[in-house]
Amino acid sequence: MQKPQRPANESVRLRDLLEYEILDTEPESSYEDIVRLASQICGTPVALISLVDEDRQWFKARVGIDSSETSRDISFCGHAINNQGIFEIGDASLDPRFADNPLVTGGPAVRFYAGAPLLTPTGTSIGTLCVIAPKPGALTVEQKLALESLSKIVMREFESRKSLKSSKELFIQLQNSSKKVEEQKAQLIRAEKLKSLGEIAGGIAHEINTPLSVIQFNAGFITRRLESSLDPDHQELLDKLAKITKTVTRISEIIKGMLLFSRDGAVDDIDSILASQIINSAVSLLRGNSNQIGVEIIIDGFEDVNLRCSLQKTLQIVTNLLSNARDAVIGLEDKWIKIGTRASKTEDFAEIYVIDSGLGILPEFRQKIMQPFYTTKPVGKGTGLGLSISSNLAKGQRGSLYIDDAQPNTCFVLSLPKNVRGV
Ligand SMILES: Nc1ncnc2c1ncn2[C@@H]1O[C@H](COP(=O)(O)OP(=O)(O)OP(=O)(O)O)[C@@H](O)[C@H]1O
Ligand SMILES: [Mg+2]
Repeated sequence: MQKPQRPANESVRLRDLLEYEILDTEPESSYEDIVRLASQICGTPVALISLVDEDRQWFKARVGIDSSETSRDISFCGHAINNQGIFEIGDASLDPRFADNPLVTGGPAVRFYAGAPLLTPTGTSIGTLCVIAPKPGALTVEQKLALESLSKIVMREFESRKSLKSSKELFIQLQNSSKKVEEQKAQLIRAEKLKSLGEIAGGIAHEINTPLSVIQFNAGFITRRLESSLDPDHQELLDKLAKITKTVTRISEIIKGMLLFSRDGAVDDIDSILASQIINSAVSLLRGNSNQIGVEIIIDGFEDVNLRCSLQKTLQIVTNLLSNARDAVIGLEDKWIKIGTRASKTEDFAEIYVIDSGLGILPEFRQKIMQPFYTTKPVGKGTGLGLSISSNLAKGQRGSLYIDDAQPNTCFVLSLPKNVRGV
């Protein structure tokens, strides 16, 4: 038996075959129709669309045969793909190349074979449309022409399948990139909105500051006058004035926040600061109040590191993170906050983290909480500016503020550049 020779362009041929992505696909009626037609026209019980893979021939469509593939070494089609025209064997049992072929000596006892090559547009032959009979035979000129025409129809089907697939892929690519463009547009709009919101906030804050200090000054003046007059009838007025002063203080706190928000964290007072200094100062600011409400603040896994940052700004960020954490655990049975330093994935950075035993933040709120004026706290308790200011302050120091999703508890992380030069 003679094994089929590999064509000279075998690697290109295999690449062309794989590009159709047809091997091992499900049967399809259009191809089934073609093999049925071929077997009728040529008067053979068997007809196949056979694709010659690296080591096997696989049948995309078949009539009159059960197996879906055979080894390439014993295949007739392996020989047929080396021909540009029809490859025909009248009686395989008399042909020295096939006489002892197991497909001839055993089932399906092939005698007659005719295969038209499946030629790609570049001229490589990826398989055949072939007809087989258990009796010797020969095709007429008309049958040969018909088999060749049908093999061209098979290739046209393969080609349109390929272009449909690449159009689909192109469509998906287009969809993905237009989705990306939309996302970027939304981000840009948000950034623009935040920028103008910052500018507006800064403007309003400046405008309100002056009249507010006039109210504050006059309220203080009247309070002092009424207190010195010792008239008991003035108590009600003093109570009302105390309310005015409290409200004014609250408004100035909001304005302070708005001014900070609009400053977008310019790098002005950057210094070399030890993380321990920031953490100890922030913890001592909150410890008194936290102890009162039974919240334990633990300084956790500590390795000190020199950061390049502004002490005042970083303290403001960490204090806000601690006070948010404290608010998140109030009322719970298990109340603790852990604060510490850790290495960053980026070598030149170090991180300060704040973890709390609170109930966590739902994924759908993660984006929102970083936006200015978003708060879940009762009126008068939070301005909703803490995190957006903190995030701006972090960015202004070349750092970032993020939530570490890998932790089981809520974990806010402030990442800042390390002071590598040690100055
Ligand atoms: N550790 C946390 N656990 C659960 N929710 C949190 C935590 N930190 C922040 N949040 C949520 O994020 C919201 C926004 O926080 P942010 O610090 O920006 O404003 P605030 O604390 O509400 O007000 P402000 O800080 O201005 O006083 C909070 O109202 C809260 O809902
Ligand atoms: Mg806050």
